[in-house]
Amino acid sequence: MEHTNDAHKVKPFTDDEYAQYQKAFSVPHRRPIRVGPKGYVLRADWPTHSEDVRTMPLRPDDIFVVSFPRSGTTWTQELVWLIENDMNFEKAKSIPLTDRYPFLEDFIYASATRMAARNDPAKLKMLEEILKPAPERLAATPSPRFIKSHLPLSLLPEGTLDTARVVYVARDPRDVAVSFYHFLKSFPHNGLTASFKEYYDLFINDLEMWSPIFEHVKEAWQQRHHPNMLFLFYEELSKDLGAVARRVADFLGKQYTDEQYASLLDHLKFDNFQKNTAVDITDLKKFGLLDSKGQNFIRKGKTGAWRDNFDEEMIQRTEQWMADNMRDTDLLFPQN
Ligand code: A3P
Repeated sequence: MEHTNDAHKVKPFTDDEYAQYQKAFSVPHRRPIRVGPKGYVLRADWPTHSEDVRTMPLRPDDIFVVSFPRSGTTWTQELVWLIENDMNFEKAKSIPLTDRYPFLEDFIYASATRMAARNDPAKLKMLEEILKPAPERLAATPSPRFIKSHLPLSLLPEGTLDTARVVYVARDPRDVAVSFYHFLKSFPHNGLTASFKEYYDLFINDLEMWSPIFEHVKEAWQQRHHPNMLFLFYEELSKDLGAVARRVADFLGKQYTDEQYASLLDHLKFDNFQKNTAVDITDLKKFGLLDSKGQNFIRKGKTGAWRDNFDEEMIQRTEQWMADNMRDTDLLFPQN
C-alpha cells in the first residue's frame, strides 16, 4: 500500500473512526481508508487499481465530469454530453448514461456489489463485466471519451487538467448531506439504520466516502480559472440552466440556436429527467441493489431543502462547520 507520492498515501480509518462509521449500519462494512494529505475517504478496494488510474493515458479530447457525489453529477453529465454531441437527443435517450460515461473509480465498489449479489451466479457474472476497471475499459473507448469521477482533482490521472477538459460541479454541502442519506437508504444491502441526524454526525466529521467535501470542492475552486476547467454550482443550474448551458457550450467551443437550447432545457427539466430511463441507474435496479421503488437517484431536485431536515442544534453546528471550512477561501455557495 505504501506509495512514494504523498497525494496517494493510504491509511486505514482509525478504530474510533471505524466505530463511528459502522454505528450507522446494521451490516458490517469494510474499514474505509484515507488517501493523501487531505485524508480523502475511499473504500478499501481503492488501492487495487489506484495506480492504473494515476497513470491512465489521457487524450486531449477527453471530457471529465467531476464532483463530490450527490452534487448534480448526472444532470451535468447529460448537459455536457448533449452539448458536445450536437444535441443528439435520440442517441442520448437510447444509450444509458452509464455506458456513455465510464465511472473512473467504479472498481472501488467491487467488494460491496459482489457481497450484495453473492447468492446469484448470473448477477455475479454480469457484475464482473460491468466492474472491469474503467481505466481498462477506457483504453478501448473511441474518442471523444466522457468520463465520470467523484475523485478530487489530486487523485485524478496525472496531468488531467493540462491535457483534458474538466467540468466540476459543486453543491451546498447541507443539501449534499440530505441527498446522500436518501441515496444510501435506497440500497437495502447497505443496512443504513441511522436517522438523518445520526448520519449527519458522520457526514460533518468527514467520515462519508469522498469526504472531506470542503477540501474536494476547494481543490477544484482553486483551479476555476484554468483554461481546461469549467466550475459550476448545482444552484446555478437550478436557477438559470439556460445560462449555464451557454457557458458549457462556450467552454466546449459549440454554438446552438435558441430553439436547440429550448429543447435542451426541456430534456433536462427535473420532471422529464426523472422519467428518463437512460439516465437513472438501470444497472443497479437490474441487480436488485436498489430498493423496489429505486426513486432516490433523481429524487427531489431542490436547492435549500436541507432546512426541512435540520433542527436548531444541527443548524448551529453546521454554521460553525461551514465557517471553519470557509475561513481560508473566497468560495461561496450561491443561495437561491
Ligand atoms: P436530491 O437528492 O436533492 O433530489 P448526483 O447525480 O451527483 O448523484 O446528484 C443527485 C442530485 O441531483 C439529486 O438531488 C437529484 O435529484 C438531483 N438532480 C438530478 N437531475 C436533476 C434535474 N434535472 N434537476 C434538478 N435536480 C436534479
